[in-house]
Amino acid sequence: MTSPFDGQVAVITGGASGVGLARAGQLLRAGARVVLVDRDAAALDRAQSTHAAFGSERLLPVQADVARKSDVQGYVAAALERFGRIDLFHNNAAIVGPQASLLDFREDDFHRVFGVNVLGMMLGLQAVGTVMRAQGGGVIVNTASVSGQRSSRPDAGLAIYGASKAAVIRATQQAALEFAPYRIRVNAICPGPIDTPLLRSTFRAEGRSEDEVESLLKQHFSKQPLGRAASAEEVADVAYWLLGPTSSFVTGAIHNVDGGMTA
Ligand SMILES: NC(=O)c1ccc[n+]([C@@H]2O[C@H](COP(=O)([O-])OP(=O)(O)OC[C@H]3O[C@@H](n4cnc5c(N)ncnc54)[C@H](O)[C@@H]3O)[C@@H](O)[C@H]2O)c1
Repeated sequence: MTSPFDGQVAVITGGASGVGLARAGQLLRAGARVVLVDRDAAALDRAQSTHAAFGSERLLPVQADVARKSDVQGYVAAALERFGRIDLFHNNAAIVGPQASLLDFREDDFHRVFGVNVLGMMLGLQAVGTVMRAQGGGVIVNTASVSGQRSSRPDAGLAIYGASKAAVIRATQQAALEFAPYRIRVNAICPGPIDTPLLRSTFRAEGRSEDEVESLLKQHFSKQPLGRAASAEEVADVAYWLLGPTSSFVTGAIHNVDGGMTA
């Protein structure tokens, strides 16, 4: 059976790790051509080696910082130069930033987190949306978070990250309405805990050993309704459906992939 993604061109930001990397593997196996965008050059090299079997005619790694407009224009230009179009866009790169509450957050950290998670996401929507409008359609998935829907424990230190992910949800709904006349669908996924480097970074604190981090993570996961975190693949699976033709009437939707955390 032919895959609906055969020959399609996908751009994935934050594509060298976690959810983005899982997403890239799924799309490559389904026949798509994939542009992996990440600011981490070493992680991009590792991702390219992991998927070396697909060859350079199927996989293009692009080092870019999504928070910089010139880099966003650069990854879009690189995708067009190599593959001529962009059918699918997973707007996924994000950082958590240092843990801080509203009472003690630092302005620089706010700008850094909002620069990547909000400005980077919106610049991506603008640049890729412009290409898709000229092409006559496309599909976009933004990665938000359950942290954008509800407040986290005060000691979790996610005040800035949570606010940035609330902005991703709002921008997704706005983009869905603005882009609908151009046959571009835009949806968001809201994961709960996923066992990736990003989540692990939030449990690392000065003076905490790796064993302590492991034990805290285990406790955190065991408190989830399903008693565990999601794998990156389980989250990527939902984005896979949202990017494909079987979700053709779904736009402006915010899909939780949280193992029941918000139930
Ligand atoms: N891990 C979780 O528990 C969790 C929960 C909810 C939502 N999310 C969201 O899922 C998405 C993917 O996260 P993940 O868990 O796979 O994290 P990850 O850290 O494994 O991957 C994120 C990737 O984004 C890249 N990146 C960061 N800043 C960038 C920038 N400015 N420009 C380009 N690339 C940049 C990183 O280098 C990294 O490769 C993020 O949007 C995150 O907020 C994660």
